[in-house]
Order: sequence, then structure tokens, then C-alpha cells
Amino acid sequence: MNQIENIIFFDKVAYKKLKHYLLNNIDTINNVFILLDNYTKIHCLPILYDKIDFLKKSNIIEIKSGEKKKNIYTCIEIFKKLEELKGNRKSLILNLGGGVVTDIGGFVASIFKRGIRFINIPTTLLGMVDASIGYKNGVNLNYIKNVIGSFNVPDMLIIDTNFLKTLSKYEIFSGIAEMFKHGLIADKNYWNEMKNKYLYIQNDNVEIANYLIYKSIIIKQKIVNKDPKENGLRKILNFGHTIGHALESYLMNKKKISHGIAIALGMIYESWISLEKNGLSKKDYNEIKFFLSDLYSINKIFSNSEIEIIYSIIKYDKKNENNNIYFSLLNKIGVCSYNCEVSFNIIKNSLLHRF
Ligand SMILES: NC(=O)c1ccc[n+]([C@@H]2O[C@H](COP(=O)([O-])OP(=O)(O)OC[C@H]3O[C@@H](n4cnc5c(N)ncnc54)[C@H](O)[C@@H]3O)[C@@H](O)[C@H]2O)c1
Ligand SMILES: [Zn+2]
Repeated sequence: MNQIENIIFFDKVAYKKLKHYLLNNIDTINNVFILLDNYTKIHCLPILYDKIDFLKKSNIIEIKSGEKKKNIYTCIEIFKKLEELKGNRKSLILNLGGGVVTDIGGFVASIFKRGIRFINIPTTLLGMVDASIGYKNGVNLNYIKNVIGSFNVPDMLIIDTNFLKTLSKYEIFSGIAEMFKHGLIADKNYWNEMKNKYLYIQNDNVEIANYLIYKSIIIKQKIVNKDPKENGLRKILNFGHTIGHALESYLMNKKKISHGIAIALGMIYESWISLEKNGLSKKDYNEIKFFLSDLYSINKIFSNSEIEIIYSIIKYDKKNENNNIYFSLLNKIGVCSYNCEVSFNIIKNSLLHRF
């Protein structure tokens, strides 16, 4: 597998490398496709064209934005388009979009003609620090996330924080939650740095944003490299997500909640479980709780009856035996363990716990 440090490029250097890659492989790439959605077509394609003029000659494949489109039917539409436009084994796909586009594009590239090359150009913060890292891609089946997919490595990863300028605050804070998660599970210094500097990302300070994004990518990549197929260690990346995903599904049909808020809340609840079950100190717990609840303006957003429903989602969603679920829990800020057995009783108490 490519080492991430060798394939990830930022800003001007990134476009120079991409240009170089395209011109140098002119014999082996005969057809470039840009996969994008209706928003990245408007906001991000002009930036890409501006940097690499000759990409205007490539074929555009547009999908409708949104998680609902992350399914096999969208892939079939893309395969048809690729066929129609004479895609072949020498084709290259540039995925220009958030996690939905890079997940779909990476998957399509892994099976079209038994595999073609692709490059990720993530345009959301979450895409930059999470979705386009770790070689997983795939689509949902009905309501079950990412059941169909593959592991596939892009030839390059292009990071350009210019794309973030058109992204809503809501989407920015989704990415920021994952960056905080990286600090909490693996690097206390990074958690502290993020606490002090996360606002620079929102305020377009390119240098600091690039630095923080790079560090986040490296933290995730190091974990992935040690356990690419998620047999063990990689599970620590799920910290905050067991409860966080249940909150997301509960709220999906009610009001919109960003992945970031759901995960920030999930991290608070799961830190409480870590305090109860995994030796997390009260001091660390309070630090996490106060910081995240303040940052995400989380203040008693669920009533007791709602919590009962969320609890039932976790309980019935997970087909676990013996009334237990396995969590990734913190030992302390910067250290996380996985496969921690947690009883439903403790999960319920964590949700009822007020902060
Ligand atoms: N493969 C993995 O390891 C992995 C990890 C984490 C998340 N994911 C997946 O990532 C997806 C979520 O990704 P996301 O949060 O990037 O969502 P997304 O791709 O749906 O993008 C969010 C919204 O922002 C718009 N958008 C994208 N870039 C923009 C820009 N620069 N300016 C304005 N609008 C822009 C999109 O059109 C979309 O409406 C989920 O499907 C999740 O399962 C995958
Ligand atoms: Zn997440």
C-alpha cells in the first residue's frame, strides 16, 4: 500500500503534483472522469479548473448530493456513464466532493473493469481528515450504512482548504469533531492543540488549518496502517460513534443534527462510560465534557422519554448476545482501548446522566 505521506499533497504543491501526474501518465491514462455532486460542481469544480486548465476537457459525472444517494443504484448510473463515455482500464476517476462522493467514487473505481485508478480531492473537512483516509469505501444498502464496499487505495490525496470557504459552519464542525476524536484516542498533545487552535480552521488560516489537518490525517493513518482490516486497533476510531450513530438515526427524521454534534455527544456519553468502566479520571472526563458541551452548545437536548427511545435503538440495533455491546473507551486523554464489554444498564445510565 502507498504510504500516506507519499501520496498526500497540500495546496499549490498538490496541484503541481497532480498536473505532473496527469502529464507524466499520458500514455497510461486515456480518459479522465471527474465525479462530483451538484454542490461541488458549483463550488469546487471552478477552483479545480482554475488550477489545472486542461481538466476542462475531462468528462464530468454528476450525482445528486446527500447520503440518500450513497447506494448501489447511483453506482449503476455511474457505470453506465463510464461505459457510454468509453471508460476503460486506462481511465482515471477524480473524486471531487465530500465523503459521499469519495466513498462512492473509490468503490466504483475498485470494481469498474476490475479496478481503475482514482484520486481523492476531498472538499469537506470531514472528507479531508476522515472519509478519504483509511482506504475504506462503499455504499449503503437500504438504511444500513456501508454494507457494500471495498478497500482501495487512491493514487493521490489532494488537500486544498480553499474548498472549505463555501462549506457551512455546520459541516465544518462535523469535521472538527473527528479531529478532536483523533486527539482523544491517540494523541493528548493534539487534543490540546486542537482546543487552542480549532477556530483557525473556521477562520481560513490556511497555514494552521493545513497543519492541524495534516496531523489529524497522520493520526488516523498510523492507526489504519497497524490494522487495515479493522480486526482490532482500528476499532478505536469508533470512539463516540456507538452512541453517536444511535443519536443520528433517532434524529434523522426529526430535526437535522450534524454528524459532528452527534459524535460530540457520543464522545461525552462514552467518556462517562470510560469513567465508570475504563479508569478514565474524573479530571479528564470533566475536561472532555466541559469543552465539547460548550463548543457544540449541548445543553440537555434530550428529554427522559427521548433517551428511552435512543437507548432502545442502541439495544435493538445491536445484535449482541448476553446483553452486552463492545465499545472503544478511553483510558485517559490520548489513550483508548477497544473491545470493552459494556452492559446495557451502564449505557442507559450514561444517557440518563446529565451534564
Ligand atoms: N470511508 C470512510 O472511512 C469514511 C469515514 C467517515 C465518513 N465516511 C462517509 O462520509 C460521508 C459523509 O461525508 P461528508 O460529511 O463529507 O458529507 P457529504 O459528502 O454529504 O457532504 C456534505 C454536503 O456538503 C456539500 N459540499 C461538499 N463540499 C462542499 C464545498 N466545498 N462547498 C459547499 N458544499 C460542499 C455536499 O454537496 C453535501 O451536500 C458519509 O457517507 C460517511 O459514511 C466515510
Ligand atoms: Zn464519524
